[in-house]
Amino acid sequence: MSQIPTYVTGVPNGTEKGLYLAVDLGGTNFRVCSIHLNGDTTFNLTYTKVAIPKNLMTASSAQDLFGFLAKQIEQFLKIHHEDHFEAHIRRRQTVTSPDGYRDEHIFRLGFTFSFPVQQSGINKGTLIRWTKGFDIPDAVGKDVCALLQQEIDLLRLPVKVAALVNDTVGTLMARSYTSPGKTSTLLGAIFGTGTNGAYVEKVRNIRKPIGGEYDKSTGEMVINTEWGSFDNQLNHLPNTPYDEELDRDSVNPGYQMFEKRVSGMFLGEIVRLALVDMLKRPQSTLFTDANSGTNDWKSTTTINPDTGLFKQWGLDSSLMSIAAADGTPELSTLRQELENTLGIYSASFEDAKAFKDVAYAVGRRAARLSAVALGAVVLQSNKLNESNEPVDIGVDGSLVEHYPFFRTMIYEALAAIEGIGPEGAKRIRIGIAKDGSGVGAALIALVAAGMEKNAVPDYLNQLRSEVTERFGATIPQMGMATTLV
Ligand code: BGC
Repeated sequence: MSQIPTYVTGVPNGTEKGLYLAVDLGGTNFRVCSIHLNGDTTFNLTYTKVAIPKNLMTASSAQDLFGFLAKQIEQFLKIHHEDHFEAHIRRRQTVTSPDGYRDEHIFRLGFTFSFPVQQSGINKGTLIRWTKGFDIPDAVGKDVCALLQQEIDLLRLPVKVAALVNDTVGTLMARSYTSPGKTSTLLGAIFGTGTNGAYVEKVRNIRKPIGGEYDKSTGEMVINTEWGSFDNQLNHLPNTPYDEELDRDSVNPGYQMFEKRVSGMFLGEIVRLALVDMLKRPQSTLFTDANSGTNDWKSTTTINPDTGLFKQWGLDSSLMSIAAADGTPELSTLRQELENTLGIYSASFEDAKAFKDVAYAVGRRAARLSAVALGAVVLQSNKLNESNEPVDIGVDGSLVEHYPFFRTMIYEALAAIEGIGPEGAKRIRIGIAKDGSGVGAALIALVAAGMEKNAVPDYLNQLRSEVTERFGATIPQMGMATTLV
């Protein structure tokens, strides 16, 4: 596993305040948000979300993708922060500095970038590799903050990319900010399109060199484990012909092998490959009821020739959630959904039951593997032995939020792990970190603003006073309140 030091050396306690921008490039969507941290463990968040166009995920140049992201930020500012935006445009025409015009960055932006990055500072990091279906070779090895800042500057937006954050780190921070009680959060984990976890480790346990500056006073640092790439050699992970086929046809064969068995992007595809294999077997009766004598519900079962069942990625993992949630005696919801989303008309009860069983097996395996990752971090922290406090874990992502019983299955598996057991499992508190990546990125931008404040050249402070003098109350003091402990 990559085990990347993040330069984040503390978690918040809920008293932090300020207004920040955050963007989140996760996998499926791009979110732009502004977050007001109220300082009392609550926050207000405004956001917009767009699906990332498929052609940009595999664009030939990094600029295509990052230019699109900057455009979304511009749109967001125009719609939701028009007042600040306009004030900035006006100032640009009036304020000068000793070395000509320089933009003042009004908004500090936390950039949640949910791919493996070799971080070298709070707002610096080079992309190691793409995951989750992205493939833009041009960006690999480049500083993703600089790529975004360049495009922001081209649009002359009043925004500074202040912090680079993995979504798991954001989740950890957000959960710490909002989590109940005095226990600080140990781990932030994502079970969504992809999967990964970030946890608080003692610096003395970190064996790889950590270059550059960081706050040494806490003796701790957040580590981004990148557990999605655990056991790429397949020494431990379960492996089926469907896993093999999925990997072979993916954009990154041989990588992210744990993720390919756990996360939402892949589970539907595993189910699909298993079903297609069943359909090929002569003895199988799946989706084959030929007349009303054999079909319990309607008549002949037919499959639309254009069905996603026979196309790569054609079965969305959300159908597994519907299958798991359908407790009706005739599985009527699932049967309707097989028709709506896969064009399988008049599936019989047995067909639906078979679908449900296959989906359950794939979903349960994912939950149990997830428990292995969570349990490993809990054991490594030794927290179950060190105190009687709950061990707090923040989670986010479509799978853990929407797949029924995912957390229940995780708890069952945790209880079976040596060193945790049923008693230990009861002390592990897994809670959703609301808007994890947005709030987390804001919190880290807040830390960054604090670090910056000590290092801002005098000229910039002068410029700030000049601007404040001229425009007084219209200038928001954003991103400057720093009370992180
Ligand atoms: C990425 C991680 C990310 C995870 C969850 C994985 O594919 O490598 O950096 O945290 O997805 O979004």
